[in-house]
Amino acid sequence: MNALKATDLCKTYIVNKRQNNVLRNVNLTIEEGEMVGIMGPSGSGKTTLLYTVSGMDNATAGNIRFFGEEITGLSANQISDIRLKKMGFVFQQMYMLKNLSIYDNIVLPAYQSAAGKTQRKEINERAKVLMAKLGISEVADNDISEVSGGQLQRACIARSMINNPKIIFADEPTGALNKMNSEEVMRELNKLNEEGTTIMMVTHDVKVASRCERVFYIEDGNIRDEMQLGKYAQENAREREKELNSWLMRLGW
Ligand SMILES: Nc1ncnc2c1ncn2[C@@H]1O[C@H](COP(=O)(O)OP(=O)(O)OP(=O)(O)O)[C@@H](O)[C@H]1O
Ligand SMILES: [Mg+2]
Repeated sequence: MNALKATDLCKTYIVNKRQNNVLRNVNLTIEEGEMVGIMGPSGSGKTTLLYTVSGMDNATAGNIRFFGEEITGLSANQISDIRLKKMGFVFQQMYMLKNLSIYDNIVLPAYQSAAGKTQRKEINERAKVLMAKLGISEVADNDISEVSGGQLQRACIARSMINNPKIIFADEPTGALNKMNSEEVMRELNKLNEEGTTIMMVTHDVKVASRCERVFYIEDGNIRDEMQLGKYAQENAREREKELNSWLMRLGW
């Protein structure tokens, strides 16, 4: 089953009457259960691609299918319903709410889609399991300013998982993190992927990207090349990174 299929996807921004064709006929397919990385120069359209395929932003032209269902052309309400229930987002711009605890931030998207009290109980249970899995149970009641960068990012992942999404979109989930925290976060993303969640993530970090199973290279709003690495395994982590590095070198990255 295709998790995502974009056909001739175009996105044009118009700023001061100047037209900027950011995505130019992008074609890509992501299979259910895949973990895909998106790399490419700054300004090449990576974030725009994530926003467009996830329905956060409208495509200018082309077609997007999400688990077989065409989402281009759906109403804004229908799309936000799909986003809330079936997609998870780990975007740097989507900050956690400041006056809420880590726990409250995590359950928020689920409360938004909850029908009643019994569901809230389930949500609380699920949040606890997720927090334990991501190793942040002990900071549940902390304010978001009272945790480390890695803990905050893992909380973002917990929040993105709270509605059991079919896919997680992540935009530089390790961008603001040091090496140790970044590995922490990637370990969790790999784990979630092993458990069946499809992941599409943008990253500038070769080590991070080498944990993905397939990596796309975007340039000038188009996919220039892709590299198949296969499912992540720690045993060959070094080789994967090397292989990815030389591929990127060949592409002039
Ligand atoms: N909301 C917007 N309105 C107008 N132009 C935009 C908007 N968002 C992005 N752009 C333009 O689209 C192009 C691609 O931006 P995008 O953010 O997708 O790049 P990126 O590959 O994610 O870069 P980076 O690696 O720096 O994050 C840039 O030229 C940018 O200025
Ligand atoms: Mg970006």
